[in-house]
Amino acid sequence: EKRIGILGAMPEEINGVVSLLKDKKEIVKGMRTYYTGTINNVEAVVVFSRWGKVASATTVTHLIVEFGITELIFTGVAGAISKDLNIGDIVIANSLVQHDLDARPIMKRFEIPLLGITELYPPKEVLDNTIVRIGELVENGNLINLLSLIQQEKFSLTSQKVMIGKIASGDQFFSSNLEKENILAVLPDVLCVEMEGAAVAQVCFEYGIPFVIIRTISDAANENSVIDFNEFISQVASKFGLEIIKKLTK
Ligand code: ADE
Repeated sequence: EKRIGILGAMPEEINGVVSLLKDKKEIVKGMRTYYTGTINNVEAVVVFSRWGKVASATTVTHLIVEFGITELIFTGVAGAISKDLNIGDIVIANSLVQHDLDARPIMKRFEIPLLGITELYPPKEVLDNTIVRIGELVENGNLINLLSLIQQEKFSLTSQKVMIGKIASGDQFFSSNLEKENILAVLPDVLCVEMEGAAVAQVCFEYGIPFVIIRTISDAANENSVIDFNEFISQVASKFGLEIIKKLTK
């Protein structure tokens, strides 16, 4: 039977989704609270992992082994690396890399030791379905409405788009243009950075669980990223998470 795992890194990324759960129950384990219930009559488990690769890999393993999830959706925020991305845009990963994985000279840079690969990919069918549904979200105006709501909260977002491409993950918060230049020098096609996606993708790959990683841009990974990130998280992140999950569980 289908059981969806829905994962974020912080409370603000999943609170909206938790409010969608019917017959909600809470299970605390490993210093995390797992919320179980149904969304549109489909079983779901919702949890925030805390930040970083270890926390998110542990949490997704728990979702797979203890809760028996059959698919995983990660939703949260990211810092933009591509100049084409603005705050409020959405990125769907078609490949993920751990930018802080470096076992040179034994292995090539970014290679996952003893797995023989450097990038993780969501299954094509899941990715295609996600692109269609998130695309609808922008086109049919739901997020336009969301944007006007956000503007009332002094967010100056004027347009919004969805991009599909590479996401880089690592235990690092990007807060300068120098950090941005450094990652672009070695991974020129990275759209955005965050701290969990590629770790979650690796665990899902190892266990054969279909996954998709969806990120909303909260900041430009530059000198203003701390201010932008905090504002986005405190004011609108949970609304984005809610709208994305509503669309994907319809
Ligand atoms: N998640 C959101 N913004 C980020 C940034 N600037 N660096 C890393 N992860 C992020």
